[in-house]
Amino acid sequence: MAGTGTVATVALILHALSAVVWVGGMFFAHQVLRPAAASLDPAPRLLLWSRVLGRFFAWVIATIVLLLASGYALVFSVFGGFARVGVHVHLMQGIGILMMLLFFHLYFAPWSRLRGAVARLTAQAGAGRCGAAPFR
Ligand code: HEM
Repeated sequence: MAGTGTVATVALILHALSAVVWVGGMFFAHQVLRPAAASLDPAPRLLLWSRVLGRFFAWVIATIVLLLASGYALVFSVFGGFARVGVHVHLMQGIGILMMLLFFHLYFAPWSRLRGAVARLTAQAGAGRCGAAPFR
């Protein structure tokens, strides 16, 4: 029983911290960084966002792994399976999986295009400094 208590405590701490990092990071990006960066010129703004999001998305991937591992550890080793959890856990799993699918869409489609645009911009700026033709 002490083992189950330890799993529950560790899993809940990791679960709650992961949720704070992911949701809190989105809040910070949208409510704080976005308005603060809005007045920057497009080129430095794009560079700032690509650096910020590159770091943040690595954390989001880590939180997804931790949320899934800790969430299913709670369901299967603490509660004894999905038949014995409340409707709030089913809803959490559904919303969590939806959030993850949306994140992976964002990661592999718009984020990938943004990284491509920033790479082209950086290459153009570098070529401009060397006097060479801009990269397209
Ligand atoms: C995707 C699969 C997920 C599973 C299987 C899962 C499972 C669970 C379980 C079993 C609990 C404990 C419920 C209880 O004590 O009654 C819990 C708590 C919680 N979950 Fe999830 N969860 C998932 C995803 C998420 C996501 C995506 C978030 C938020 C981003 C989240 C946030 C929370 C929070 C804040 C708690 C309360 C933690 C606490 O009491 O300290 N969960 N989850």
